[in-house]
Amino acid sequence: MKPIKEIFNLHGKGAVVTGGAMGIGLGISKRLAEAGASVMIADIRLDEAQAAADEIKKSGLKAEAIKVNVANPADTAAMIAACVKQFGNVNIMVNNAGIFPFAPSDSMTEAQWDRVQDINLKGTFFAAQAAAKAMKESGGGKIVNIASIDSLHPTGNLAHYDASKGGVLMLTRSLAVEWAPFGITVNAVLPGGIGTPGTAAISEGMLAAGMTQEQLMQAFTARIPLKRMGEPDDIAKVVLFLASDASDYMTGSHIVVDGGYLLS
Ligand SMILES: NC(=O)c1ccc[n+]([C@@H]2O[C@H](COP(=O)([O-])OP(=O)(O)OC[C@H]3O[C@@H](n4cnc5c(N)ncnc54)[C@H](O)[C@@H]3O)[C@@H](O)[C@H]2O)c1
Repeated sequence: MKPIKEIFNLHGKGAVVTGGAMGIGLGISKRLAEAGASVMIADIRLDEAQAAADEIKKSGLKAEAIKVNVANPADTAAMIAACVKQFGNVNIMVNNAGIFPFAPSDSMTEAQWDRVQDINLKGTFFAAQAAAKAMKESGGGKIVNIASIDSLHPTGNLAHYDASKGGVLMLTRSLAVEWAPFGITVNAVLPGGIGTPGTAAISEGMLAAGMTQEQLMQAFTARIPLKRMGEPDDIAKVVLFLASDASDYMTGSHIVVDGGYLLS
């Protein structure tokens, strides 16, 4: 039986985190690096990704940055090639990059719909496909998709997002079955409300629309039994579990991390 410290030891593993420059992705990048992985922070915002990699490297850990638009399969293929070149392999792929722009369905445009599917769903698929090619050659790997509680439960004015995240959940199950023979596991994490730059932008919009700070916090936490918003590290610790040997017998599974929101 492996000792616990070895189960969570990611030394010698190459990891890619899309959308790793900030928010949940940054939290995931930090935890994977702390566990010993070499982390490729892949983000459409190169300056922020580079700053995140530099911060991790200052602690004596391993990280590099690359500019990637996950909606472009050529970019995600290049991202995987860069990880193999720099770190020797891709053992862990975290599909985290995603957007959640509010849009009422009756006025949603084709461009709004396509952009969300391209980044959230198509981006997850083609990044996973590129990672799986490398993982098959090395005998396996772990893919973790960041879906959402919206994969299971709709939020108003986010039909395009909810559809994309429902898609990510089913994609996780499809790929898990197809790639199990190659030693590749594919699992999903479904976050509830997490404080990130992305959700801060929504809060600013609500405040600008006349909501008070107190009403805002009430709106966010009223239905959360644990009575707080989540933090990026709440998700990062669960991703670490799914990226480690602790989850070896899990594939096609999802873990809801929402402070109990879906129960209320
Ligand atoms: N924050 C939450 O409450 C919450 C809840 C459920 C699910 N999620 C999911 O978690 C993930 C991260 O959310 P967050 O709140 O940290 O978001 P965020 O907006 O704070 O950060 C997203 C990161 O992704 C990057 N990104 C955006 N589009 C990209 C693209 N096309 N290619 C590459 N990188 C891109 C951004 O530059 C940014 O660094 C998303 O998939 C989101 O849907 C978030």
